[in-house]
This record gives sequence, structure tokens and C-alpha cells, in this order.
Amino acid sequence: MTVSTKPLDVCLQGLGRLEYRGYDSAGVACAAPGMDHVVWCKKAGRLSVLENELAKHPLPPAQTCIGHTRWATNGEPSDINAHPHISQDGKIALIHNGIIENANQLKFNLQSEGYNFVSQTDSEVAAKLLGKIANRIIEDTGKPDLFAAVRRLGKMLSGTFAILAIDVRQPDVVCAIRRDEPLVVGLGEDESFLASDVTAFVAYTKNALEIGQDNAVMIRGGRVEATDFDGNPVEARRFTVDWDASAVEKGGWDSFMDKEIHEDPASVRETLMGRFDLDGNIVLDELHIDESTLKNIDKITVVACGTASYAGFIAKYAIEHWVHIPVEVALAHEFRYRDPVLTPRTLVVAISQSGETMDTLMAIRHAREQDSKVLAICNTQGSSIPRESDAVLYTHAGPEIAVASTKAFVAQITACYLLGLYLAQVKGAMYRDEIHGVVQGLRAMPGKIQWVLEHDADVVKSTAIALVSRPAFLFLGRHVGYPVALEGALKLKEIAYAFTQGFAAGELKHGPIALVEEGVPVVVIVPSARQGNVLHDKVVSNIEEVKARGAYTIAVAEEGDPDVERYADVIFWRPQCPTLMSPLVDVVPLQLFAMDMANAKKLDVDKPRNLAKSVTVE
Ligand code: F6R
Repeated sequence: MTVSTKPLDVCLQGLGRLEYRGYDSAGVACAAPGMDHVVWCKKAGRLSVLENELAKHPLPPAQTCIGHTRWATNGEPSDINAHPHISQDGKIALIHNGIIENANQLKFNLQSEGYNFVSQTDSEVAAKLLGKIANRIIEDTGKPDLFAAVRRLGKMLSGTFAILAIDVRQPDVVCAIRRDEPLVVGLGEDESFLASDVTAFVAYTKNALEIGQDNAVMIRGGRVEATDFDGNPVEARRFTVDWDASAVEKGGWDSFMDKEIHEDPASVRETLMGRFDLDGNIVLDELHIDESTLKNIDKITVVACGTASYAGFIAKYAIEHWVHIPVEVALAHEFRYRDPVLTPRTLVVAISQSGETMDTLMAIRHAREQDSKVLAICNTQGSSIPRESDAVLYTHAGPEIAVASTKAFVAQITACYLLGLYLAQVKGAMYRDEIHGVVQGLRAMPGKIQWVLEHDADVVKSTAIALVSRPAFLFLGRHVGYPVALEGALKLKEIAYAFTQGFAAGELKHGPIALVEEGVPVVVIVPSARQGNVLHDKVVSNIEEVKARGAYTIAVAEEGDPDVERYADVIFWRPQCPTLMSPLVDVVPLQLFAMDMANAKKLDVDKPRNLAKSVTVE
């Protein structure tokens, strides 16, 4: 049996790539033949704190290693609460994502048997319990069987979990169980990997397996065995990662967010790629929903959270216009707890970059229970939301690492638009030429986004720097500009920690205008004045109204708009484009603005406080 520093090195590298999922503490544990107990190291703070500690006190070479970066749910971020957690006898180490709902009862039982607890976490309960189960198996059978032990553990836990464990008595295996938390296997040559996201191991292999709900998996060298919790073998779905390891590198950019904003054009282009036949008709064979079912759809309900919900909100305007069916946009966490009206003719569209957002996952489960068809618009292969949907339309934004969503947002709008136009095609709601005209407009958007990136960068940056000390910002928009305003407000809030509020410009006089006083920055998304767009003049009037009350106005407007030039203090220009396409360009200066403001405040733009990239708890 070979031992080396590779397991730990691979683990730390993987944690570096996954740190965007949680970054309040980190830890690793290793096993090797001849060890009496697992060796481990864990520290509160960023991964670099752990790495410094390991540089001072290196761990011995090992055969297997597990590692974790944490986003605290149970217990504050601290060295003690960091993972891994260790069994009472020190033989087993375990890491856990999720929330164990019966932890208190299990802890009470273990305490009454003499087990001691040092942390405030539910995960330590799982570690102590797994240690007990593993020892019981040894007593009963005379040999260790970590795989059987984790399966038994899985049956005893309620709540959500992805758990990985190692045992010094079987130092060549890593075992795992999952329920409602992501878990994928990487298939290397003579080596295997387990992670919550392929990003962790894509430098070593692009071949992966999805681990199903309530399944257990054991990896040993290049061998992988998957079963249900009763030990019956199960088929795990194989897939190949379609991007390179370089996609998860910063590649010379100052931050992932900077890189990803500059990937907005490619994100739209790639999402459109391969979705048309030679005649220019939209082909979405991958949907696997037959045309007769789609023809019958009489309502769409979008379920999503945060930025993804704003993409759905934008799509509402387009799809209602093109397909003439109602589109409702529901925040996934609210949807589930009301009585949404769903029928077998409702198409539920779940939008999620990560494919793991628990609120959205729960919403689609609810929808499927009501016999509605669920279609996922998702950016992550092998994730839970597409797996549990009837159909999936992947966005091809590539991995998004910065916590604040940017390139995924424009890809989500693009995918929603493709879906809307496809429905219009299938239902005959638009003429072919009309659809082709819209598609042409969509295809021109990557070039227009590029124009914005090149033309607006300087003015956006100088504006952000000039306004760095302003405590609050308002964002206004109408029609598709309204969700863009909401998204601009969210971006600035989450990474620059400014108090922001986005609202429909028409609401101004119904209350929010009371917030406007001397110097308050107000960002206004101005629709095009072309083609007699009545909304243009109304939004310009809104600018005048806030300006008259002392606001500092920043307009996002179409190139050469003379009215805006007259009233706005600063203008972020967009090139001419159809109204329904404008969100794809209008959001770009707002993404840059948030990033520049965060940089000006010397904040970590990729990892804002209190947040994590994948919100896998409700
Ligand atoms: C904001 C942001 C979040 C996510 C939301 C949904 O920048 O990233 O609001 O959009 O948490 O995440 P996904 O799309 O992974 O379901």
C-alpha cells in the first residue's frame, strides 16, 4: 500500500476550488496503514489559515484524505466546530454538509452512553454515532466495514446530508452517503475522488458519476461501488465534464467576478450554440418533453431564488409577449408554502445556476407531486435540480466561481428566451419569420455586451470610486428594466455592502420618493426612445422627479439618447437593441459597478461576507 502527500495535496487543491461554496473554516483528515488514529487539522477562517497551520505542523503521508470548507449552520465558525469531526476513539473522521434534524435526540442518547461532545455541531453527532456503529460491526463480524457503517448511519439520520468518512482500520477507502446534498464521484485511473462539485477534481479527471438520493458509495483506488442504504447495488449515472480545469482558474484577472463579467458575451453565445437546425428553427431535442405536451402548456410558473428569479422575471415579459400564456414568477421558498395553482398543463421552470439550491429543489418536488411538468434551466451538470426534473435546458456559462452571479444570469435569460421562442414555434404562436427575427436579435447580443464592456468600463469605475462613501442607492426601472433594477440593487448590496433598494419606477410616487434627498444616488434603467416607446418618456420624467429633489442620477440608456443626456448626471451607454434584449446589456454596467465599488472599499469581491455560492440548506 502506497502512502504519499498526494491525497492531502489533492484535497487542499480541491478545497481551494470549492472554497466559494463556504469559507468560514476549513479542515482535513488523513488515514494511512499503521496509524493508530486518524490525523487531522482544522482552523476557523479562510483556507489559507489551514494551509499556514499545515505548513507549520505538517501531517504525515497518507493513503486517503478528506477535507471540508464550512458555511456555518449549527454552531459559530471556530476551530472546534470546523470539520472533520472525529469519533470518540479517534479511528474515524467525518465531514458533513447539510443539517441533521434528529441530532439532538441522537446526541442525548449517545451522552447517556458516556460519549463526550466538544463542538456545538450536528456533524459531531454523526461522527460519534458512526464510530459507535463501526465498532459494533467489528464486534459482530470480527472485521471493519466502513461502507456498511455509513449505510447504517444513513438510515438513522433525518434531515439532509452528504457525509464522507475515513477509518484508520481501512485506510484505503473513503465512504460516503447522501440525501438532498450534492455528491459526485470523479473517476481517475487507479484513483477516485468524491466531492460536492466536479470543480474539486476536474484537474484530474473529467469523467464523473452522479450519486443518487439515499445512496452510499465507496471508493478504493480506481474502484467505485454504489448501493442504496440497504446495500443493494445501484446504477450511478455517468457524465463527462464539458469544460477544462482552466475555466476554474482566475487566468490573470484580479478576481473571478471580473473574469466572469467579461465572460458575459461568451456565456450568451455558448448558450445559443447548437440549438438551431440548418433552417434556423430552434431545436431543443435535449428537453425530452414531447411536442404534444408542450402544445398543451397553458401556464408557466418560474421557481427560483435571488438573481435566478430576476432572470425568470425578465423572461416573463418576453414569453407572455411571444407565447400569449401567463407566466408567474415565484420565489421558490415562498412557492412551496402557499397553495400554488398547478395543473398537469402548467410547466414549472426551475432556474438555478448551481442546480443545488435547496429552496428551488423543494419547490420542484412540490410541483411534481401536483403532476406538473418541471423543466430545469441549470448551469451545473450532475446536480440535483436537473436530476429531479422532467427536462433540462443547460446554460453553457461554464463554472461560475464568484459568489455573486453574473455570467450565469445572462445565460439564464438567454435560455429562457430560447424556451419561450421554442414554445412559440411549437404552439404556432408566432410566424416563423418573426421568430427568426428575434433569434437574429439574440445572436447579436454577445457583440453588444462586448461593446458595453469596452465602452463603459472607465465611466463605471470612476463613478463607483466617486460614490464609494454613499450609504444607500436606489435602482429604478420599468418593464424589463424593472427586474434589471432589482438585479443591480442585489449585486451592489451583496458585494459592496451598500443599502440598496430596487423598485418599479412607477412606484416612485407611491412611497419610495420619500427616500430621495440631496445626493442620494439613483440608478435608472431607461428604455429606448425608438419606435415610439411610451415608457421612455415616463422613465425620463422619473429622472426629472428625483433630480428635482436632489438625487444624483445615473442612467443606463441607449446610445445618443438626448433626453437622458439633458437630465442624468452620469450615463452608462448601451448600443441599440430590441427592448426585450436590453436586459442582457443593461445589467453589465451594473455588475461592473458593484465590483468596482467593492474593490474601491477593498472588499473581497469573490467571497462576500455571510454568503456561500450554493445555498443547500432551506
Ligand atoms: C446573487 C446570487 C444569488 C443566487 C441564488 C440562486 O448574486 O448569486 O441570489 O442567484 O442564491 O442560486 P442558484 O442559481 O444557484 O439556484
